[in-house]
Amino acid sequence: MADNNSNQMLVSMVDIRKSFGKVEVLKGINFNVGYNEIVGLVGDNGAGKSTLIKILVGVHQPDGGEIYYKGEKITIHSVKRSRELGMETVYQERALSEQQNLWTNIFMGRELTTRFGFLKVKEQRTETEKILREQMGFTSSAISNDAVVKYLSGGEKQGIAIGRALYFQADLIILDEPTMGLSISETNKVLDFVANIKSRGKSAIFISHNIYYVYPVADRFYILDRGSVAGIFEKKDISQEELVDKMVHLAHTGRLNE
Ligand SMILES: Nc1ncnc2c1ncn2[C@@H]1O[C@H](COP(=O)(O)OP(=O)(O)OP(=O)(O)O)[C@@H](O)[C@H]1O
Ligand SMILES: [Mg+2]
Repeated sequence: MADNNSNQMLVSMVDIRKSFGKVEVLKGINFNVGYNEIVGLVGDNGAGKSTLIKILVGVHQPDGGEIYYKGEKITIHSVKRSRELGMETVYQERALSEQQNLWTNIFMGRELTTRFGFLKVKEQRTETEKILREQMGFTSSAISNDAVVKYLSGGEKQGIAIGRALYFQADLIILDEPTMGLSISETNKVLDFVANIKSRGKSAIFISHNIYYVYPVADRFYILDRGSVAGIFEKKDISQEELVDKMVHLAHTGRLNE
């Protein structure tokens, strides 16, 4: 059953269950993302965070439960389908194709073509340049539409993946550990891009092990623990320190409180 809120939510996952072999990895998860809301999804290694979002974007099928998107019950059989619905995922790896230039990357799988099927190369390059300067605010002259991805910094790559999602009007951008392996300054860039998602009226799910990255940009937090939701907190109800304390306590005792 959907809760009463599912109509007002962008995404509502209800009683989601998933096992791999005999191991139950998700034990009846209820998870919501509101319109123009940034949700922080945190929890220990193996808690089930990536599995939950992979179910949402159609990488895995759930064994049980329901998914509502913009108030309608949906079944997502493929990543292609979730992209059509307006969900984009940004992973640390595989965000972009390393050997290709930026304009190829931005339009990969969604190429602009003439009605005879020819690639509109010039338009794609011009649009890419616009995305880089106007949407993403890149000022460095090293970053141009024909720059090859492998020469970009990790933060720049993540920024471009997020910029691409915004350009194609994704309603929900899912970031699974987007700052892993990045320097502090690159991480700050990625956090700015996440804040940009919010200011453009879109929603995001932000998965990270680092509460100090998640806390400033998220509106609400889900703590996942061994396949269950251990707690849900609105930012206004919990300080960064309290959230960290809860996570530490949970790791030590297996309980959120006491
Ligand atoms: N395809 C799979 N086949 C078998 N087991 C899997 C598969 N994917 C995930 N698991 C197991 O499910 C559990 C949850 O994994 P998941 O990747 O969702 O955790 P996570 O919360 O994202 O962890 P991390 O913070 O380390 O990324 C783990 O025990 C993992 O080994
Ligand atoms: Mg994970």
